[in-house]
Amino acid sequence: MKKIDISTKINNIKLSSCIMNASGALCRTEKELSNLLDSSSGALVTKSCTTNLRDGNKKPRYFEWNIGSINSMGLPNLGIDFYIDFLKKKKINKPIFLSISGFSLKENYFLIKKANLISNISALEINLSCPNIVNKREIFGYNFFYVSKFLKNVFKFNKKPLGIKLPPYFNEIHIKNMASIINRYPIGFITCVNSIPNGLYVNSYTESVVISPNNGFGGIGGKIIKPFALSNVSKFFSFLRKDISIIGCGGISSGQDVFDYILCGASAVQVGTQFIKEGISIFDRLKKELKEFLKKKNYFSIKHFLGNLKKIC
Ligand SMILES: Cc1cc2nc3c(=O)[nH]c(=O)nc-3n(C[C@H](O)[C@H](O)[C@H](O)COP(=O)(O)O)c2cc1C
Repeated sequence: MKKIDISTKINNIKLSSCIMNASGALCRTEKELSNLLDSSSGALVTKSCTTNLRDGNKKPRYFEWNIGSINSMGLPNLGIDFYIDFLKKKKINKPIFLSISGFSLKENYFLIKKANLISNISALEINLSCPNIVNKREIFGYNFFYVSKFLKNVFKFNKKPLGIKLPPYFNEIHIKNMASIINRYPIGFITCVNSIPNGLYVNSYTESVVISPNNGFGGIGGKIIKPFALSNVSKFFSFLRKDISIIGCGGISSGQDVFDYILCGASAVQVGTQFIKEGISIFDRLKKELKEFLKKKNYFSIKHFLGNLKKIC
């Protein structure tokens, strides 16, 4: 029987499976990172790191219901040196994406320079879309001037494959303009999308919000965001240079979801909320479901349908 190949490439980095974790989902501590190394995920993405350790926002700061999640974590992470030390001492068996989330251009450049020195890091995913810093920070990905300035400077010194994680856009012109900025630089990939910012979940029985920071407002993930994330992937696929890979993220909970993302132009996918819900065995399940679905459709490689979404004329 013909083998079904779900391997992929992101900016010439080979992944044995196109399915990986999303930054922030069970990838912060030594134990969580070790579990990911031992799992069947195609790559490991770290929790977004800052220069120093951060405890993050006040709890409760994460809540999930049947079709979604809301969070306002506030970037709790162990600081870049922890992630570098972890990667230096471990036997690395898959591509490593270090997620970086500095609070300023200067901090981002500092973190990127540091990560450039570490051979075990395959690529850098710069988080330009964190929605959850109390009273502090704008979402960089909505500030087109910031993104232009960042990209203009970063490639003067960066030597690693580098991608940016974007917030969701809800207007085609925003995606077109962002793509035209990105197309000017030797960027390796984009990841879209981060949580949809400024959501609110209400408990009707207690007549209350469900998370403590920001008066209950937070980033929304999980099944309900998939149509918005898919549209971002599909539109970026049509506007970006073809050598820039897209990693799709948002609402993936089945092998068929993974298929839909690839059909819309993603070369790989990340799983957040459903990974938190289900745990490390999710990578085996999604791989199996994707392979079964491809077999039914008579596809033997993701290359055979990547970006082939049909239009109705
Ligand atoms: C608890 C939690 C923490 C997150 N932390 C980060 C983070 O540190 N960096 C980042 O780029 N995205 C972070 N995200 C966003 C996810 O990576 C992902 O983009 C988003 O949740 C949508 O995917 P999903 O629908 O599969 O959850 C976080 C999401 C959740 C739920």
